[in-house]
Amino acid sequence: GYLKELLGLTSIENQLKEKLKIDKVIVVPGDSDESPLVKDEIGKGVAKVLAKLIKDQDVLAVTGGSTVAAIPDQIPKMSRDITVVPSRGALGERVEMQSNTIAAALANKMGGKYKMLHAPDNLSKAALTSIIEDPKIASVLKAIKDANILIHGIGDAGVMAQRRSTSPDVLEKLNENEAVAEAFGYYFDSQGNTVHQEEIIGLKLKDLQEISTIIAVAGGRTKAKAIEAVALNHRQHILVTDEGAAMEILK
Ligand code: BG6
Repeated sequence: GYLKELLGLTSIENQLKEKLKIDKVIVVPGDSDESPLVKDEIGKGVAKVLAKLIKDQDVLAVTGGSTVAAIPDQIPKMSRDITVVPSRGALGERVEMQSNTIAAALANKMGGKYKMLHAPDNLSKAALTSIIEDPKIASVLKAIKDANILIHGIGDAGVMAQRRSTSPDVLEKLNENEAVAEAFGYYFDSQGNTVHQEEIIGLKLKDLQEISTIIAVAGGRTKAKAIEAVALNHRQHILVTDEGAAMEILK
């Protein structure tokens, strides 16, 4: 629109599209690091994208995080025959920011169904292996595998490790391998190589190949490196970000 032209955001979007090799980029004014209201603008951007995209029978998977959490409030009430699922089990974050909570809120706004993944975080590998055989859990895991739209956040590796009270040995591993980014429970270096993976059930990196629309949402100047690492090295079709992150990436 007119305001975007005036602010030069359309040109920034085009430059980012080229630099990150992403089909569609939306840049909202402001910097999420400076004001939490900017995340609401990112949420509005996602609402616009979804309004055009969503069809009945769609299965949407969502990650946790404060940016994805800002989306449901920005979605107008509608009545669609869709299903929303969390992308992975909880990762030890505040419940408001967990993917289960966000999936339910989004489904309520869109008039669809939701499925919850009730798997406690910080389980041993053995416990996780047995949990995925539970029929209820298995049915949710199947829905996650069937997702055709994924909305995920991107975090700075250090910030996410701290937020999840990551153990000292994992912190050391992240440090040694120069992790810069985190998305859906995976930690990546600046080349997009996986340096660590949280032991949790749900969406795997290889599942991304099967998802026809992947929407990444992340803003703030301090996330520039993380966004670049994930965007350049993994499949994303749409990025909704803010001016703070965009200007830093384009520097
Ligand atoms: C997590 C997601 O919950 O939130 C990650 O699983 C993401 O994919 C992170 O990196 C980002 O959180 P925020 O609060 O910075 O949007």
